[in-house]
Amino acid sequence: MQLSLNFFKLSLSHGRLKIACLLILSCLTASCCAEKIYINLYGDEPFGVIENVIKTIIGTIKFMYDALRFLFWESSEITPESGAEFDFVVVGAGTAGAAIAARLSEISNFRVLLIEAGPSETIFMDIPVHVNDLQFRDDINWKYQAEPSDNYCRGMTDKRCNLPRGKVMGGSSVLNYLIATRGHPDDYNRWEDLGNEGWSWKDVLPYFKKLETMEIPPLKNDKEHHNDDGPVHINYAHFQTPLAEAFLQAGNELGYKTIDYNNPDEPVGFSYLQTTSKDGMRCSSNRAYIHPAKSRENLLVTKNTLVSKVLIDDNNRAIGVEYIKGGKTYQIYANKEIILSAGAVGSPQILMLSGIGPGDHLKEMGINPRVDLPVGENLMDHIAYGGLIFHINQPVGLHIYDIVNPINPYLSEYFLYRTGPLTLPGGCEALAFLDVDDPNNHTAYPNIELLFASSSFVTVSTARHNLGVADDVWQETYAADEDSYTWMVFPMLLRPKSRGKILLRTPDIESKPIIIPDYMADKEDVRILIEGIKATLRISETKAMRRFGSQLFKSKFKACQGIEEFTDQYWECAIRTITMNIYHYSGTCKMGPKGDLTAVVDSRLRVHGIQGLRVADASIMPEIMSGHTNIPTYMIAEKLSDMVKQDWGYPV
Ligand SMILES: Cc1cc2nc3c(=O)[nH]c(=O)nc-3n(C[C@H](O)[C@H](O)[C@H](O)COP(=O)(O)OP(=O)(O)OC[C@H]3O[C@@H](n4cnc5c(N)ncnc54)[C@H](O)[C@@H]3O)c2cc1C
Ligand SMILES: *[C@@H]1O[C@H](CO)[C@@H](O)[C@H](O)[C@H]1NC(C)=O
Repeated sequence: MQLSLNFFKLSLSHGRLKIACLLILSCLTASCCAEKIYINLYGDEPFGVIENVIKTIIGTIKFMYDALRFLFWESSEITPESGAEFDFVVVGAGTAGAAIAARLSEISNFRVLLIEAGPSETIFMDIPVHVNDLQFRDDINWKYQAEPSDNYCRGMTDKRCNLPRGKVMGGSSVLNYLIATRGHPDDYNRWEDLGNEGWSWKDVLPYFKKLETMEIPPLKNDKEHHNDDGPVHINYAHFQTPLAEAFLQAGNELGYKTIDYNNPDEPVGFSYLQTTSKDGMRCSSNRAYIHPAKSRENLLVTKNTLVSKVLIDDNNRAIGVEYIKGGKTYQIYANKEIILSAGAVGSPQILMLSGIGPGDHLKEMGINPRVDLPVGENLMDHIAYGGLIFHINQPVGLHIYDIVNPINPYLSEYFLYRTGPLTLPGGCEALAFLDVDDPNNHTAYPNIELLFASSSFVTVSTARHNLGVADDVWQETYAADEDSYTWMVFPMLLRPKSRGKILLRTPDIESKPIIIPDYMADKEDVRILIEGIKATLRISETKAMRRFGSQLFKSKFKACQGIEEFTDQYWECAIRTITMNIYHYSGTCKMGPKGDLTAVVDSRLRVHGIQGLRVADASIMPEIMSGHTNIPTYMIAEKLSDMVKQDWGYPV
């Protein structure tokens, strides 16, 4: 700036033309230099090293104290002896199960047992930025894998997609990226059209409200759509990177509004992520529902406990469950009902092991079939292209080494005040909902979500292990750029047409089921994903994104050699190579009326043909909604809890 001004003064003594030229030049230089050049996430000023190191030490001590307090909030556990009786047995303390057990135990006459295969939650699992690392842990993750395929996840080790799943108090709400979306009203109206009375948007909205405490300032005043006294807290992260700001600006440049995507009047546009978090920490179902119920004497919890089957009597009535804990097998009983909330993999697995499922498959497994139902069919998930990565020329994105470096203020700010970049869920920061076939329609029914992250598995190379990127693909394509600053978008298909299935591998609860997701079996799914990629490329070319030198990472997949770059055929090959599944398994115990041959439970979530047994979790979704599945699963749990209370004669 200084330099260019001097230039300008000098040039005054020369001819007019020259002055004009230099004026333009100096203006250009000035406009370039007026923009801040970032040297860290906060701007162009260096940090005070000694101050930060001292603060980090103090912060670490404080955080250790917080960790101890957290242990105290965790529920204590019992091990019921064989023959023990309860009113309700809830299997699985995930998103749904924790909520259901807590809601049912509000009735002091109900004795409720909650059974969870995994251990207690700890405070370390609740640091949002830490989310990528949770997937390495065998102790809190089922670590399922899809069967190998030539049509998707071709660039992953053994051509298998990794399918993480929470195995801990809180279930997948402890492993997830905190992204809070409800989906579109038409999703639920469609559920009702399929024969499920009471599941239209107007019926489910009260439950979306009941579950939440909206803390985001302008949104929390919108009482028509939001609420301020539910257990699940919803916030923006307490920090946004300059890149995320640029992403929202890019949206504005392209004519899109910044929206509250959980308000049905604003289905299309850009937004920071609304996250399930409280005070800068993950708000899991365990924290939202079980911690506050710690002192209830009628809510009992058993952890590290694997349910192996539902006990069913000769009249097809569910009477109890069998479980394994510490190598011993127990049988306990439910006087009223059993509710399976073991998730979209666990619930169908337990049903099949109990003789409820596709008759032929059960016979093959040597299991006596009681009720022939399409359990395990209709498997759905959201997928995205996982390789849409852009380089940048300034350190404005998240980088793991910056985050953990104590000479930066990031660690200490988090430990002391719960602010800063550690409040960002694994680098995910913002999203856009679009209808790629009608992009200028701002009241459209979106078919793509663009999930924005200010990082990628090139920057955070540990993240590639989550995805399971094969070593040769990593070497040929990404390794040379390891460690550089990047951003990425996951173009995510909102309403896949393809369906997969889950089968038993052996008739034993300890063996992982066979999971065949069959992603992109339908060509239309691929077409929409490719349009999502093109929409992202347009975003990368906006002024806002170019400001940081955004440049598409050229993936050189061997598998796609010979295909002309950036043609639809090329993108299809790329998507089938780096297929990113968004971990939204659902639909495997589909809700539908009696007589619907694809249905497993009715609209009150009772298993067809069996008394005293319900399923309530992501597996009952007849069709996956246009958004992430965690908040909708809470909604299902809240609604189920009211239905159960009603059915036992309690007003709601
Ligand atoms: C890595 C990851 C990231 C995700 N990110 C997001 C996100 O950002 N936003 C979003 O909305 N959704 C996200 N999801 C999806 C979302 O978290 C799930 O859809 C939701 O948690 C499903 O809830 P659920 O109750 O159906 O199952 P779960 O929460 O998985 O709960 C099932 C519980 O049952 C237990 N269980 C299973 N089998 C048995 C058994 N035999 N005996 C005893 N217990 C058993 C499990 O241990 C688990 O605790 C993510 C999921 C994953 C895995
Ligand atoms: C926008 O999309 C909605 C939902 O699909 C539709 O009802 C409406 O007619 C569309 N508007 C225009 C102008 O096409």
